[in-house]
Amino acid sequence: MADALPLHGATPQSYRLPLVDRLHGWVTTVDHKRLGLMYIAYALIFLLVAGVQALVIRIQLAIPNNTFVTPEVYNRLFTMHGTTMVFLVECRSCLALRII
Ligand code: HEM
Repeated sequence: MADALPLHGATPQSYRLPLVDRLHGWVTTVDHKRLGLMYIAYALIFLLVAGVQALVIRIQLAIPNNTFVTPEVYNRLFTMHGTTMVFLVECRSCLALRII
């Protein structure tokens, strides 16, 4: 059988998954449009993270004397929400808009 698939560990170039090639292309790209798209994706992921932090803050503040989180955790969430929004969401989005 000349056309048989290769055994494990013996994958020639012609059998390489296109997905691996595509991923390699994205990771090593110097194309400004692709870099901009990746910055936008990065910003959206952290928008979600900071949104969850804001949600926990809101739950804590929803009723008086709530004990959903401790005061220490509240302070950390407050700081992380602000830092994430400003440096990981806003800065990245602005960068993306500059280069895309
Ligand atoms: C510019 C980037 C920011 C964006 C886009 C943003 C966005 C949001 C959103 C959408 C909420 C939920 C709204 C709500 O619960 O009423 C929220 C809540 C909150 N954010 Fe931000 N935020 C930003 C920066 C900051 C900074 C720098 C701080 C403080 C250092 C901060 C502190 C808070 C707090 C304490 C809450 C809870 C307020 C509440 O629910 O009553 N945020 N933020």
